[in-house]
Amino acid sequence: MCGISAYIGFREAYPIVINGLKRLEYRGYDSTGIMIFDGEEMQLSKTKGKVSDLELITDNDEVRKKGNIGMGHTRWATHGVPNDVNSHPHFSQSGDLVIVHNGIIENYDTIKKELINRGYIFKSDTDTEVLVSLIEEVKKRENCKLGQAVQLALNTVIGAYAITVFDRTKPDEIVVARLGSPIAIGVGEDNKEFFIASDASPFIEYTKNAIYLEDEEMAIIKIGKKVKVHKIHDDSKVDPIIQKLQMNLEQIEKGGYDHFMLKEIHEQPKAITDTFRGRLLADKNMIKMSSIDDNLDRFLNANRIIIIACGTSWHAGLVAEYLIEDMARIPVEVEYASEFRYRNPIITDKDIVIAISQSGETADTLAAIKLAKSKGAFVYGVCNVVGSSIARETHSGAYTHAGPEIGVASTKAFTTQITVLTLIALKLGKANNSLTDDAFNNYLHKMQLIPKQVQELLKIDEHVKSIAAVYKDATNCLYLGRGFNFPVALEGALKLKEISYIHAEGYPAAEMKHGPIALIDENMPTFVIATKKGHYEKVVSNIQEIKARSGKIIAIVTKGDTQVREIADHVIEIPETEEALTPLLTTIPFQLLSYHIAVMLGKNVDQPRNLAKSVTVE
Ligand code: M6R
Repeated sequence: MCGISAYIGFREAYPIVINGLKRLEYRGYDSTGIMIFDGEEMQLSKTKGKVSDLELITDNDEVRKKGNIGMGHTRWATHGVPNDVNSHPHFSQSGDLVIVHNGIIENYDTIKKELINRGYIFKSDTDTEVLVSLIEEVKKRENCKLGQAVQLALNTVIGAYAITVFDRTKPDEIVVARLGSPIAIGVGEDNKEFFIASDASPFIEYTKNAIYLEDEEMAIIKIGKKVKVHKIHDDSKVDPIIQKLQMNLEQIEKGGYDHFMLKEIHEQPKAITDTFRGRLLADKNMIKMSSIDDNLDRFLNANRIIIIACGTSWHAGLVAEYLIEDMARIPVEVEYASEFRYRNPIITDKDIVIAISQSGETADTLAAIKLAKSKGAFVYGVCNVVGSSIARETHSGAYTHAGPEIGVASTKAFTTQITVLTLIALKLGKANNSLTDDAFNNYLHKMQLIPKQVQELLKIDEHVKSIAAVYKDATNCLYLGRGFNFPVALEGALKLKEISYIHAEGYPAAEMKHGPIALIDENMPTFVIATKKGHYEKVVSNIQEIKARSGKIIAIVTKGDTQVREIADHVIEIPETEEALTPLLTTIPFQLLSYHIAVMLGKNVDQPRNLAKSVTVE
């Protein structure tokens, strides 16, 4: 939530900061701003809207003056509406200090009142302006350096933050700090330049060396010196670990596609293959996952597995519930992390918690993990972003290896999460003999075919597009599925809602008769998963019930199906596989359908309104 991009060094800062903001725009895009220090003054430009809007107003602006220090921000509003004034960066009262901030200062109101009593005047409604003025107040009062002032100020605030602060009277350093929101420092050759950003994407072409601050750490970054890191709360020094980045530029560019979402949909065959790599050894009839092997007794003797996640990751968790209970016969519960963290759940050291998160930064999931750990549970993470907060906070885990996902609507993150969770379910099922050798081996061989089947399935794009054209003006849609595909129905509805703003509901098909059927008429399309095996006959009955009420049916069926074809208005075929593996296929048409509807409606597919890619606030 909110993206920070900053630079201090010998290059022109403006293009680096602006390009960095563009890459971070998935984190927030309601307003934006940039400050360039020209050697004397801090040139500030801010605007409501996107980074492209900021570029327009800075095109012939002073801000383009040569300056080797700069910081920018792309915002997802928490305090104060998105407008020019509330956009970051924010200056302190004197105009000497400047800050960009990602997070929330919860006690900002109390601090603000105290500062107002001391004569401070605030221009914006933000908690961030309060924080930078607090730092200034502390600096004056204690007559100390910027780093110390930041530290003292942060010790009085409650909340979450990643901040970058600069003092124009001491222009060779930048101070950064983190509690609850990520921040990475790119280290240039011989410490001649530094890049600061919410993730490493803004500086990938300049350096592969990055320091990721941990929670409660702050860093003093000075040109020509090694980065100094210490704790915010007790002042103890930390030896910063410089990590070698694996990411490359190609991965974070659109690669010829109109949108990141479309690119990421099409990347799924490769992403799933990457998730399998070194794990799915079908020719040896084995699944290799050291994170499960190392904790096998714990998993097999667990009272239950509790899965915590948000949004799409929660849907992947629901699929896992069906998979693990079916294949390994271990009880599973799936919870919204945001509910779990506040509802005083009963957790013991015999429980295993699996936390699922693409970004690894979701605040609710992170807080739920900390709660589960405090109650003695073993916490296993399924994350995409390597080195993310959740990956570091969990006891063990598996990466999905989907590669960077930039479109706000999750696509390849979902299918790769299901892939990892299927491997875990199979591995546990084999280990506790819930699955026979034959069943296990058959699954492995069918799994291996999935990337090719997804590739094949993607060829239906034009067909899905023609269906999208028919239903793009619907105002309400129903998504139905049963068993393993009930969560896919939820995910299909979420995809449509978030990028096309069409209201959509996902339901277990049989639940329809308990309420949603009242909505059915000729204007209400129902997207239904009716694959063979599973609960096929039951779902066919549900389709009949809808048709009897003049509803429109778009059905996802198994290749060769004739029964549903006769009654449905449109069918989309998926290749044959085991029922438990169908979520990896049935989800693809729903992704394409939402994508095309959103494009036809002229919506911003990659940056839908009000949303942000990683939700690092409550
Ligand atoms: O990064 P996470 O997987 O923890 O994110 C959880 C949700 O915020 C995320 O899945 C969200 O629902 C997506 N926009 C869905 O497309």
